Amino acid sequence: MKEEIRQAPIGVFDSGVGGLTVAREIMRQMPKEKIIYFGDTARVPYGSKSKETVTRFSRQIARFLLSHDVKTIVVACNTASAYALDELEKEFDVPMIGVVKPGAKMAVTRTRNGRIGVIGTEGTIGSGIYNEYIRSVRADAVIYGKACPLFVPLVEEGLWEDPVTEEIARRYLGELIDLDIDTLVLGCTHYPLIRSVIGRIMGDGVTLVNPAYETAVELKAMLGEQHLLNDVEPALGSNRYQFYVSDGAEKFKQFANSIMKYGVLSAKTIHIEEY
Ligand code: DGL
Repeated sequence: MKEEIRQAPIGVFDSGVGGLTVAREIMRQMPKEKIIYFGDTARVPYGSKSKETVTRFSRQIARFLLSHDVKTIVVACNTASAYALDELEKEFDVPMIGVVKPGAKMAVTRTRNGRIGVIGTEGTIGSGIYNEYIRSVRADAVIYGKACPLFVPLVEEGLWEDPVTEEIARRYLGELIDLDIDTLVLGCTHYPLIRSVIGRIMGDGVTLVNPAYETAVELKAMLGEQHLLNDVEPALGSNRYQFYVSDGAEKFKQFANSIMKYGVLSAKTIHIEEY
């Protein structure tokens, strides 16, 4: 029985394509694990929606992933981690991990002067969750949060190196530049896809933190502690990675193929409201 659970897939979800940056990191660090990814492309963005709505969406997605017998759920979305993770953990009986705690921890490890910027959706920044976690590790940290709501649609449209993205990024990030921060948390899983634009604007003196890396490290540790790590190479053709969306499967597939080294063979559309 235990062996079967170990070989069960890891469920990963986001409002859209952003969580692929986390899935990609899990693939790198745990190549034997199977993954079922869900992107809520019909209802993106989550960042401007209420806590109740994001929690309801997240609950439906957890039910969908559990219907595929996942052994754990990775909330690869900062907004859903901020708003819904506590609820999901209470309701569902599988180990879960979000991206905020690992990101906050990594920011504290990276900063030298204790001055940290956090960029994310309106929901994530408004929730104050990064401040809370960062201060729980380093009480004297000075944190500056900035919501960047237009980044998500720009990323979803694939405008990663476009002058429009550059212009909007300059407006958003301008106010962070003179604050002497030495670390900037990419507190939305979509943002690593425009990392080079953000890095160019912030300059070499600012370390960009992508919580995906630390999330995968902590996921591996959590699965290890619970004896849930898969040590058996999945058989060829066993559908190691499966992708589901709530709309626009073809567009998602093309997009995902452009960023995933491992290839996204197909993406299927499902009716998430039914879960
Ligand atoms: N990628 C998500 C996050 O990390 C959500 C973006 C959105 O849907 O607004 O917050």
